[in-house]
Amino acid sequence: MSLWQRISDFLTTGYAVQARPPTAASAGTESDTTRSRKEDGMAHAVSMTVNGKECSGEVEARMLLVDFLRDRLGLTGTNIGCDTSQCGACTIMMDGESVKSCTTFAVQADGSEITTIEGLATNGNLHPLQQAFWDEHGLQCGFCTPGMIMAGVGILKDNANPSEEEIRHGLEGNICRCTGYQNIVKAIQSASISMKGAA
Ligand code: FES
Ligand code: FES
Repeated sequence: MSLWQRISDFLTTGYAVQARPPTAASAGTESDTTRSRKEDGMAHAVSMTVNGKECSGEVEARMLLVDFLRDRLGLTGTNIGCDTSQCGACTIMMDGESVKSCTTFAVQADGSEITTIEGLATNGNLHPLQQAFWDEHGLQCGFCTPGMIMAGVGILKDNANPSEEEIRHGLEGNICRCTGYQNIVKAIQSASISMKGAA
């Protein structure tokens, strides 16, 4: 795989190498574990719209939304970094708000509208934020990138013309271990300009 293909994968799906096929549960058949939990009365039915598609399943009350997205739906672009709401690698949009899916239960997302990094590009065209991360080299290793982009979506949804200070404040919950913040901020500034131009 070429370097540019790898960069494109970071921007559109996170770590492509993490991709795993949907489990039996996501394919509409129940695993033994799910079946036994259901028999124990521990399973909860959830349904939500994820990247424009209706998704449903049976989950334990304690199942995290990030695990539902990754393990049940195969949407592995949403990464798990800390599992304690500190790094932002798991950021998604839920009903129009950027949310850390490692500290949200799947049952809390029942009935909601979810967008993950895989749902941003349309018809093969990068979302303006994905394009800006590409253009401004807003990524190094790429692990934080899906969460950074989804946090950027939230920042620009609330404020189409954020100052540098407001962008940095908006990214406080997202950590880049490569310390690539300068170009990440530049990318969000660039996207705010291109999105205004397109509006
Ligand atoms: S994995 Fe959710 S904030 Fe770190
Ligand atoms: S680009 Fe490596 S953690 Fe941010």
